[in-house]
Amino acid sequence: MPENSASMTEKIQKIGSEPDVAAAVRKWRKKRGSLIMVLHEIQNSRGYVPREVALYLSRELGTPLASIYEALTFYHYFKLEPPGKAVISVCTGTACYLKGSQAVVDEFSREIGAAVGASTEDKMFHLQCVRCVGCCGLAPVAIVNGKTYGRLTPADVKKIVQEWRDHFKDDPA
Ligand code: FES
Repeated sequence: MPENSASMTEKIQKIGSEPDVAAAVRKWRKKRGSLIMVLHEIQNSRGYVPREVALYLSRELGTPLASIYEALTFYHYFKLEPPGKAVISVCTGTACYLKGSQAVVDEFSREIGAAVGASTEDKMFHLQCVRCVGCCGLAPVAIVNGKTYGRLTPADVKKIVQEWRDHFKDDPA
């Protein structure tokens, strides 16, 4: 349907301005083997490589989509499906760590009731720690399904978790 393709085009355009994608492309664009490295960074920051990111990279790096999926399916490291409906990636790179990201990780873990690297029983949330996602100025940072939250304190966690619970409230599947 035209609406769907229009909203997909819009989604793909927006992807390029999301900090982790923008940082990965900026960092690797001119280097050899850049595709795999960019995909690694996205896997790291999001826990999987969403289709709209693959579409964006295809356009941005001038790489056929088929080649991107060839790489994604060849290496078991890459996941094509999210490990939870909302993937919470807390950056524990140096800048974020120094500004207290561990306390944020602990609070997320307590709030959702799942350890780092695990998903909640209902698969609503998956929590992971990731390396620098390229926006150290906002440290400490977390990314949830591509949305960036900066200058976090443990006190922000409850609100973020609730935001995503509300987001998926009408979508129990
Ligand atoms: S160390 Fe967290 S964004 Fe760079």
